[in-house]
Amino acid sequence: MNSPDDRARSAQKAPFAQSCKISLTLNGVQREIRTAPWTTLLDLLREDLQLTGTKKGCDHGQCGACTVLVDGKRVNACLTLAAMKDGCEITTVEGLAQGEALHPVQQAFIDQDAFQCGYCTPGQICSAVGLIGEGRAQSDDDIRELMSGNLCRCGCYPNIVAAVRQALPTDGKGGQP
Ligand code: FES
Ligand code: FES
Repeated sequence: MNSPDDRARSAQKAPFAQSCKISLTLNGVQREIRTAPWTTLLDLLREDLQLTGTKKGCDHGQCGACTVLVDGKRVNACLTLAAMKDGCEITTVEGLAQGEALHPVQQAFIDQDAFQCGYCTPGQICSAVGLIGEGRAQSDDDIRELMSGNLCRCGCYPNIVAAVRQALPTDGKGGQP
């Protein structure tokens, strides 16, 4: 029987026939991408497409570092197979700014000093954009609850809450991601 290392090596050398073609709108650009069917969206972004703004923390759905937006909804990219998102619109932290103009959530994180090392920040920002789009956060407690899937080892939570509060639409309704 092959060792795990042997199996990993043969998986890396999987024949082209075992790859699949997917079509994504990635940060506003239509892309046709060929990848192995078992590739996670996180690995596709970071390893295949060099979009390294999205971070790999736990790789098990527990930290939120890999959060991206799929059709405007926040998802953990480490738990999402890329092939399952054929035809979807994917937004990563690299796609939030409009040219030189930062997304309001990005600006709020700067204004509120909401990060230290910054490792969790792309996931926090994508999650906050998704949260605002959901339109359910009315209070700081709501923000804490709805951001609870995003962990920050630097302990920036009070400032993250302040940043999300700053970016919430004042009419209490969801904004556009
Ligand atoms: S890397 Fe995906 S949740 Fe931690
Ligand atoms: S700012 Fe360092 S992990 Fe959150």
